[in-house]
Amino acid sequence: MSPLSIYVTRPLPEPVMIAVTERFRLTRPPEATPPHRETIVAGLRDADALICTLAEQIDAPMLAEASHLRVIANYAVGYNNIDLVAARAHNIIVTNTPDILTDTTADLTWALMLATARRVPEGHHFVQQGAWRGWDPRQLLGTDIFGHTLGIIGMGRIGQAVARRAAGFNMPVIYYNHTAKRFPDQPSWRSVALYEVLAQADFLTLHVPLTPDTRHLIGRQTLQLMQPTAYLINVARGPVVDEAALAEALREGRVAGAGLDVYEHEPAVHSGLLGLRNVVTLPHLGSATEATRIRMGMVCLENVCAVMEGRPVPNRVA
Ligand code: DGY
Repeated sequence: MSPLSIYVTRPLPEPVMIAVTERFRLTRPPEATPPHRETIVAGLRDADALICTLAEQIDAPMLAEASHLRVIANYAVGYNNIDLVAARAHNIIVTNTPDILTDTTADLTWALMLATARRVPEGHHFVQQGAWRGWDPRQLLGTDIFGHTLGIIGMGRIGQAVARRAAGFNMPVIYYNHTAKRFPDQPSWRSVALYEVLAQADFLTLHVPLTPDTRHLIGRQTLQLMQPTAYLINVARGPVVDEAALAEALREGRVAGAGLDVYEHEPAVHSGLLGLRNVVTLPHLGSATEATRIRMGMVCLENVCAVMEGRPVPNRVA
């Protein structure tokens, strides 16, 4: 058996767990639910490597105690859950899983957009509850998506994948990215200022990482710029949206609806976002397909192996 040990915080898809345990000894079994801080500290005590998920906060005091740790492979593209400064200070390499979940997350963005605007969950529950009495010209009327303006904040890989899908819906695309980005092969995509994307989008979708600059990017002031007929979609990170401000805007009819996959304090959801007919809530499913979750695990493993074998690390972020 390999003398190297790894702490895997949560059970990953079976092929991944098999591949991981063929190469490494687990310091402790993964937890069925998000582990407490003491459990993570215990798991890290003798670990050479860590595979963790976005639900675990890996902070400086934890890393100070993890004296053998050489690599943290985050099972996500976003890595705001890891203290990168502390990792660097302890010479611990941090990696993520870019690219492989781009299309999966873009698909879910569209699923949320369609579900929210066309009232899909409401229709589903209506039929399931036996409430449907037959076709009705005024029943569950929603909003068209096709032909409306898609506004994207954050034109990284996922933002671009969302934009590419807009062609099929005949939607003009406008976008804002904090650094100027141009797409010469997509002449119909229009780069605009932040206030313009907020004011002109019929569907506004967020694809920025969580940083001090993007925390509450959508809040009281920015929500005021949106059209009352517009929908907000968030599959990025919860704290990018001020949930209390969004709940207030929805209640007051200042935005038409919201499709949310992520929340400020997961798994808690602001009470003002619950029970509203114009809000669709999902439990952070952006990358949740079987194939993608297996690929993410294999990428984590490859990153860990690269560090252990002294090879170039494919997805190093720190
Ligand atoms: C990520 O990888 O950052 C996604 O949020 C996972 O669904």
